[in-house]
Amino acid sequence: METVLREFHVEYIHAYDRKSPIRWILSHLLRYPHLPLLMVFASVVNNTAYGNIQLYIGKSFDQVLKGPTGALLPLILVIVLSAVLQGLTGLVRNYSVETLAQRIERDCREEYYVSLLEKSQTFHGKQRVGDLMSRATYDVHALNLMFSPGLMLIVDSSLAYAIPMIMIARLHLSLLLVPLIFTVFLVITLLDYNRRLEPVSLAQQEQNGKLSAEAEEILTGILTVKSNVQEKYELEKFLSDARVFRDYFIQQGIIQARYWPMLAFAVSWGMSLLHGLYLWRTGVISLGTVIGFMGLFNTFRFVTYISLFSFNTVQHGMASAKRILEIINTQTELDQNLQGVRKKIEGEVEFDTVFFGYNGALVLKRINFSIEPGMTVAIVGGTGSGKTTLTRLINRTFDPLVGSVRIDGIDARDWNLESLRSQIAFIEQDVFLFSRTIRENIAFGREEATEEEIVHAAELAQAHEFICSFKEGYDTVVGDRGVTLSGGQRQRIAIARALLTDPRILILDDSTSAIDSRTEDEIQKAIRNASLNRTTFIITHRLSQIRWADWILVLKKGELVAQGTHEELMETSEEYRKIFSIVPRGKVYGFHT
Ligand SMILES: Nc1ncnc2c1ncn2[C@@H]1O[C@H](COP(=O)(O)OP(=O)(O)OP(=O)(O)O)[C@@H](O)[C@H]1O
Ligand SMILES: [Mg+2]
Repeated sequence: METVLREFHVEYIHAYDRKSPIRWILSHLLRYPHLPLLMVFASVVNNTAYGNIQLYIGKSFDQVLKGPTGALLPLILVIVLSAVLQGLTGLVRNYSVETLAQRIERDCREEYYVSLLEKSQTFHGKQRVGDLMSRATYDVHALNLMFSPGLMLIVDSSLAYAIPMIMIARLHLSLLLVPLIFTVFLVITLLDYNRRLEPVSLAQQEQNGKLSAEAEEILTGILTVKSNVQEKYELEKFLSDARVFRDYFIQQGIIQARYWPMLAFAVSWGMSLLHGLYLWRTGVISLGTVIGFMGLFNTFRFVTYISLFSFNTVQHGMASAKRILEIINTQTELDQNLQGVRKKIEGEVEFDTVFFGYNGALVLKRINFSIEPGMTVAIVGGTGSGKTTLTRLINRTFDPLVGSVRIDGIDARDWNLESLRSQIAFIEQDVFLFSRTIRENIAFGREEATEEEIVHAAELAQAHEFICSFKEGYDTVVGDRGVTLSGGQRQRIAIARALLTDPRILILDDSTSAIDSRTEDEIQKAIRNASLNRTTFIITHRLSQIRWADWILVLKKGELVAQGTHEELMETSEEYRKIFSIVPRGKVYGFHT
């Protein structure tokens, strides 16, 4: 397998061939070679037994015509035994293919999930969650259906075609005439059918992804939808997309309805009867042979009928394989750098002529600064000036386009990614909590933490008191995305989480929050506790916080326009003075840039 860049890696994942969807599916299949072999074997026996029944019915007929004799008994015995064999092998065939299909579904889902965890933030920033989810559920399940019943039916019907053909040839070679004409017709129409169905299948699945992405987005942003009274608009939008989805199914139905082979089968069936009777009349074959022949020809009905359905599921499966592989094969630009430096961080952070931008547009320009271990740094600047972006470069969520970010004098790219990130804690502007208990949320990143450690961290983060005010305390389950907690509460839980992992560098994106003064005091205290003994970056609009920082970075439109201590900046920087606009009565009032 070629080397792929990734941020995360699981050792035990089987190496699959990802060069094309077909090879990928095959490599999944070949992981369990005994199952498809067993299926084919059972299917061969199954179809032979079925053909045998038809042959012996014909033979019995001849026997009856000759007059009632005891010779009929062994013929009937063969028929009964064949029927039993057919039943048993049918069981084995279905069992093996079902096992195979379930395993492939499981393996593909695991492979897909791991590949999502491997991807960089740049990838996830661009992808819609609902679409990724639809690939993990709908498309992965389509792979399952492709094997069972899809591929199983194709194998089975191919055999249900080939074995009777051989048997017919053995009855009398000239009986092959009509079946061969029918075959040519069947192949041509099947190819045509597939060609017409493929684009519809693919479009159907794309639309499904789009639909679930939309639903996911609306449900996540339901508060925004409601407060803007946009329910009606969103509903219409969703319904019109759902209609498109429906239309693809109708289109598929029309293609299926125009399915010629069934008609061809009916015509051929009549022709073959005529042909058989003609051969009997001219004395070439017996009447029993005609009956056996017609019994065998009848199996083509199953082949014809089922090919409509089985090709459809395989078509769907292949389209899904394409969609899943597309995500798995997306290259990410960061790699985990397993050989990189792995050691304790002291906390020195240095930006050396750093330029960075998303999708081409520069967001950070020529950033230069150097921070000593243990310092508390405030980053200030107007909205959109690049504060959050700047901190994202420290833990290598992104790499700079030009220049380098050095941690303890070592380029971030030369660190082992896991070692680097595990020592840098991030408290987001918009804190994310999982729908788990508060305890689990605090211990996220350090599952082995003891109860005392968790409580201690919560106390330092000024969170213990309000957690205890909940009926279930630390066992309170946080609602989806933490909506049952206030912004300030979520932030303090995030601080507790950060304290528990005892990071060497702490980044606190505190630029939103307008909170009441009591909560503000508590958060201040929490942040002060958190910033002890480690390098801390605080993005903030709160003047008191800026004031007690050891160093201040002033950003404006992606440029570092000033840096220094509060006193220095008050002296030298016009930009910085603007931030502290003092209004009458000496009240520190606001933040302007
Ligand atoms: N994922 C992204 N993709 C593309 N552009 C982005 C992305 N994130 C941020 N930007 C852009 O980069 C610029 C800087 O954004 P950033 O989030 O760093 O600002 P900020 O200083 O943190 O602002 P705020 O105070 O509002 O949080 C903005 O113009 C924003 O539009
Ligand atoms: Mg920000």
